[in-house]
Amino acid sequence: MSDSNRHRLLFICLGNICRSPLAEGIFLHKANARGVAEQFTIDSAGTGGWHVGDPPDPRAREVAERHGVRLVSRGRQIEPGDTDRFDLLLCMDRDNYRKVERLGARPDQIHLMLEFLPEDSPHEVPDPYYGGDDGFDHVFDLLDRSCENLLDQLTARPEPSSRQ
Ligand code: 4NP
Repeated sequence: MSDSNRHRLLFICLGNICRSPLAEGIFLHKANARGVAEQFTIDSAGTGGWHVGDPPDPRAREVAERHGVRLVSRGRQIEPGDTDRFDLLLCMDRDNYRKVERLGARPDQIHLMLEFLPEDSPHEVPDPYYGGDDGFDHVFDLLDRSCENLLDQLTARPEPSSRQ
């Protein structure tokens, strides 16, 4: 598939070492399992720059590995050109969302990641960085379910418009 036909997804959090690399790894894992990875360009970034070049947090790597997911990305900070390079900017919480809005992203481009869960679910992926290991299990579960639904939406075939 040519690059111009791919869905280009950027997962965004604050530090780019916990939530967004997990979302990136989980989404890629699911896309590979379904045989549709070539339909996507996937990356992640942080709104902050403290962890540029760092591997994901060891607690994020550990929970991912327990579920067979490898995290390979390195921390990077979001930059203005990302609003042109990606179709969907998927933010973990409202603070990330507001910062991405200020970079000039179009409203239809930005989403909260948990928009892809049922309405009575939490709206933000909690930041697990300052908490215990169970925070990472909870984050993994939220991201696993939202990535599954997002992938369903992006790979759904359009319904035939009318019967002949
Ligand atoms: P993340 O978590 O946004 O899910 O990657 C954080 C990682 C690092 C920091 C904050 C949140 N930090 O302040 O260094």
